[in-house]
Amino acid sequence: MPSDPAPARAVGEHVEARVPEVLDAASPRARPGRRREGGGGEKGGGGAAPSGTVVRTEGLRRSYGDARAVRHALDGVTLTIEAGELVAVLGPSGSGKSTLLGVVGGLDRGYEGRVELFDRNLAKMRDRELSRLRCRQIGFVFQAFHLLGHLSVLDNVLAPALFDPEWPDLRRRAMELLDRLGLADRAEDAPGQLSGGQRQRVAIARALLQRPALLLCDEPTGNLDTEMAARTIALFSELHAEEGLTVLAVTHEERLAEVATRVIRLRDGRVEHDGRGKQGGRGKQGGQGKQGGQVEVGS
Ligand SMILES: Nc1ncnc2c1ncn2[C@@H]1O[C@H](COP(=O)(O)OP(=O)(O)O)[C@@H](O)[C@H]1O
Ligand SMILES: [Mg+2]
Repeated sequence: MPSDPAPARAVGEHVEARVPEVLDAASPRARPGRRREGGGGEKGGGGAAPSGTVVRTEGLRRSYGDARAVRHALDGVTLTIEAGELVAVLGPSGSGKSTLLGVVGGLDRGYEGRVELFDRNLAKMRDRELSRLRCRQIGFVFQAFHLLGHLSVLDNVLAPALFDPEWPDLRRRAMELLDRLGLADRAEDAPGQLSGGQRQRVAIARALLQRPALLLCDEPTGNLDTEMAARTIALFSELHAEEGLTVLAVTHEERLAEVATRVIRLRDGRVEHDGRGKQGGRGKQGGQGKQGGQVEVGS
């Protein structure tokens, strides 16, 4: 598919034209509806001090099938994730990892138990409120990337801003993310011209565009070669330090678990282990699983 740079310009100009200059792209505080404090691009980690509970689940259960043959994809998951944590969710195939992300991201409301997002009961939120919350606070990286084939790479990264006319021009942010993910020279290409791993990185850049408070990733490095997986993991870690990004990442990558502040292992829809990762000295621990917050303290 030939690359068509025209839509990229159209997207950027459209957003730019509608946003007052006082809404500075560099400042998350300038945006309505933001809860995060600190961040704002300060380097070095010391400046970012996000606070508050991002996710809380209590007795979360998600079942499939009928009464005769019921299967609990999630079977009583209780956990609390505080702002600024970088949580790796590990577990064998079928253990409920993707189901957990779907529920926590507000995409799957067919659960039992209690789920709170940013201290709000998910079950009580109207669809519109939830859409707004998802749009402004949560970035998703799905296993399937869901890129728009008729838009350029840059436009794909900018696409979330299309749905919210209050967003400032984020092209610089989009280009910075593409650069950090090794794709700066592919900005004008079409997704069809990219490899699977490159597309995955575009999806990651898109999810990070709006400095989400919470990034949910399902196997974010599954299609990446070793070097790019390492680079992507480093970016998560950097944004975690620079912007206080909270990350909940399902992964098979032990390396991701290594940079995590917390590691949760699921098995058969239950929390088998919930404890500090190797970087656990930073950020709060809110684990309330079987071993929540009690493991390897002082690392
Ligand atoms: N839409 C669905 N219908 C029926 N069963 C499902 C559905 N989604 C997931 N499951 C089941 O729930 C369990 C957990 O699935 P999933 O969350 O995708 O696991 P993981 O991501 O850890 O591989 C599996 O047994 C799976 O077959
Ligand atoms: Mg899965």
